[in-house]
Amino acid sequence: MIYLDNAATSFPKPEKVYDDIYTAMKEYGANPGRSGHKLALKAGRAIYETRELLCKLFNIDNPMNIVFTYNATDGLNLAIKGLLKPGDHVITTSIEHNSVLRPLKALEKIGVETTIVQCDSRGSININDIEEQITDNTKLIVTTHASNVIGTILPIKEIGAIAEKNDIVYMVDAAQTAGVYDIDVKDMNIDILVFPGHKSLLGPQGTGGVYIKEGIEIMQMKEGGTGSKSNLLIQPEMMPDKFESGTPNTPGIVGLGAGVKYILNRGIENIRNHEKELTRYFIEELKKIDKVKIYGQCDADKQAPVVSINIGEEDSSEVSYILDKVFDIAVRPGLHCAPLAHKTIDTFEQGVVRFSIGLFNTRQDIEKSVEAIRKIVKEI
Ligand code: ALA
Repeated sequence: MIYLDNAATSFPKPEKVYDDIYTAMKEYGANPGRSGHKLALKAGRAIYETRELLCKLFNIDNPMNIVFTYNATDGLNLAIKGLLKPGDHVITTSIEHNSVLRPLKALEKIGVETTIVQCDSRGSININDIEEQITDNTKLIVTTHASNVIGTILPIKEIGAIAEKNDIVYMVDAAQTAGVYDIDVKDMNIDILVFPGHKSLLGPQGTGGVYIKEGIEIMQMKEGGTGSKSNLLIQPEMMPDKFESGTPNTPGIVGLGAGVKYILNRGIENIRNHEKELTRYFIEELKKIDKVKIYGQCDADKQAPVVSINIGEEDSSEVSYILDKVFDIAVRPGLHCAPLAHKTIDTFEQGVVRFSIGLFNTRQDIEKSVEAIRKIVKEI
């Protein structure tokens, strides 16, 4: 099987990720922060170590400002719904995933106003269009770092500068970039960074997180036991306990830590270059095939390792089915939970066949995929 669905979740993971999850369950599977016995302390330390590793990766000062969640959607809901109040205005873009757009749509019912800035058909945005939409009540700008449909990278540092100049919170959805791109929350003026653990950070499913800059007021979405201030009936304000009620996903967070350690050891630049070269090669080869339409930037320097295509008017699900059944190649067709992105690139009816490259893909995987697409083109 050639796995090219890494934008949905990365597979496989580094061996150490599997090993560390197993060890966390088998050797110190206690409840962290709930008691002072040796195993509970060991589990607590392991979770803290993952916070520290994430700080190193994203240039965050305080590990307690990272909140663990179950995925990026969970983190986006926490941050968007916890921040915005009736009367607030928020600016976002037309290439967002539903994990941003649906919470915003839900908040419209309580009087939160949303402006969606249109990207062009390759997913690019004019940052002046964002600035022009700022009003007195604009509380938040929330954008993806890279489109999950076509990979287009948005200029988050420039958007962060606009947000800072106007005293607006800037939230970045790094679902497709955390672990592949150098993200520096200070340099890029990111106030809230939301990331999944199970994509390019190489952790297991059921992990993700949110960095919340000191001083940003966010209401928690749930209350419950935190293992701290147990004498109180009200939720503690201290970070990250305020947002982390209930027993955490200790084995998952430990696995995420192993993934981040792997990335730090291998070097994010090396990872990016590997994926970029495969993306570049894939695009070049696809351009040579008649009937194949490639969406997005068609430039590996300007996109995450996501390459979306269609073959003539062929249904994207049908093509993906053939890739899986006949060629043993795993991709994702359809709308990728991003209907506005598909309207932006004019593929709302047909969808696209999305190939998403990961750290463990090889040039041979891409060669075989190109060969498979050539054969499908010939057959239909
Ligand atoms: N958001 C993930 C994707 O784009 C699941 O496939």
